[in-house]
Amino acid sequence: MTKRDFLRSMTTIPFVPVDQLLQTVADKSANDVAQDEAFWSQLRSHFTVTDEFIHLENGYYILAANEVVDKFVEHVRAVNRVSSRYMRTRQFDDKLEARRQVADLVRCPVEELIITRNTTESLDTVISGIDWKPGDEAVMAVQDYGAMLDMFAQQARRYGIVNRQISLPLHPKSDEEIVSLYESVITPKTRLLMLCHIVNITGQILPVRKIADMAHRHGVEVMVDGAHAVAHFDFRLPDLGCDYYGSSLHKWLGNPLGAGMLYVRQDKIKKLWPMFGDAGFADDDIRKLNHTGTHPVHTDLTLPDAIRFHSMVGPARKEARLRYLQTYWTAKVRSLPNILVNTPADPARACAIANVGVRGMTPTQLAKTLFDNYRIWTVAIERDNVQGVRITPHLFTTTAELDVLVKALRELGG
Ligand SMILES: Cc1ncc(COP(=O)(O)O)c(C=O)c1O
Repeated sequence: MTKRDFLRSMTTIPFVPVDQLLQTVADKSANDVAQDEAFWSQLRSHFTVTDEFIHLENGYYILAANEVVDKFVEHVRAVNRVSSRYMRTRQFDDKLEARRQVADLVRCPVEELIITRNTTESLDTVISGIDWKPGDEAVMAVQDYGAMLDMFAQQARRYGIVNRQISLPLHPKSDEEIVSLYESVITPKTRLLMLCHIVNITGQILPVRKIADMAHRHGVEVMVDGAHAVAHFDFRLPDLGCDYYGSSLHKWLGNPLGAGMLYVRQDKIKKLWPMFGDAGFADDDIRKLNHTGTHPVHTDLTLPDAIRFHSMVGPARKEARLRYLQTYWTAKVRSLPNILVNTPADPARACAIANVGVRGMTPTQLAKTLFDNYRIWTVAIERDNVQGVRITPHLFTTTAELDVLVKALRELGG
C-alpha cells in the first residue's frame, strides 16, 4: 500500500476514480451538478488539500490534482533517465503534441500558439517585440497586472511611448460603458490596447469582443491578458477577435508551475521581434518567439495530463461550480451594512473570483483578521478603487468552508 493509498483509506470519503464519479452525475445538468455537495466532496479527494487553513487564495496558482502531480513526477523521472537523448530526439515532437492540445483547448490553430512559461513571458514578448517609435501610445487599465504595467513603463523610458490608463468601474451598468471608457483615451497615435479577459483583483470579466471591435475600428491592435481565463470559464479564443492573447496554465488548468501560452494572430507574427534571437525559423513562424533555452520540459509534458483531468471534470461543470461557489457567498453578504463586494453581481460578469472589503478595515487588516481569527487564507488588494481581499475558491472548496467566510464577514461587517 502506497502512502497515498494509506491516507485515502484513512479518510471518511471513499476514493472514486474521476471517470466513475462522473458517471454518477452523467444525466444531470451542469447547474444541478454545481450544487451537488456530495459529488464535489468526492472530487476533493483527488486533490491534496491542506487542513491547516481554508484555502481561498487559489488566484496565485492552483495546486494540481493528485493524478496530474503523479504524471508530472513520472515525466521528471523519464526525462532524467535518458537526459540529453530525450532533449535531442523526442523533445520537439512532444512539445508539438502539447501545443496541439493547448490549441484545441482554446480552439485556435496550432500555428498561432506557443507554450511559454507563464503570462508574463507571453505578454512581455509582445510588448517588447513591437518596434515602438517615440510618441506611440498604448492603452491599459490601472487595475491591470503590475508586471505588464511595468513593462509598458519600461517601453516609455526606453522608446518614449505614452501610456494612457483608464480606471475600470467596479459595477459597470453596461458593456458600452466599459467600451466607451477605453475608447475615450484612444488617439490617432494609439498602437496597442491591453485589457484583461478577467481582472485578477476583482474577478470582473470584460466584454473583450466589443472592446476589440471598437479598437480595431480605430486601427489599434488588441492584446488580452487571459492569465485567469483559460480553463476557468469556457470560450473560443477566435471569438474574442484579439490579436494577441496570453495565459498561465498553472492557474485554472491546474498544470504544475511554469506553463503558459501565447497566441499571436497569423498576420501579426512577422513584425514581432523575438525577445531571444532565433534564426532557425522564418519571420512569420510563431516558434521564433519561443526560444527560451534549456527549460523544464517535464512541465510542458504534463499539459496533456492536466487537460485530460480538466476535460474529465468537464469545462461546463467546472465553470458552473466555480460561479456557484462565488455567488453562494457573495449573495449572502452583499447587503450587509459595512461590507463592500467589489465584484459585479451579474453572474455573466464574474466566475470564481470575487473581492470583498469591510468598511473601517484596511485590506491588510482584513486579510490578517481572516487568517488569525478564522484560519481563512486570502490576499489583500489595495489598488485604486479596489480595496479588499480577493476570495478565490477552487473545485475542492466546500460550501461549509464558505459558510465560515460568511460567518466572519457577518461578524466583521454585519
Ligand atoms: C491578470 C494577470 N496577468 C498576469 C499575471 C502573471 O501571471 P504569471 O505570474 O503566471 O506570469 C497574473 C498573475 O496572477 C495575473 O493575475
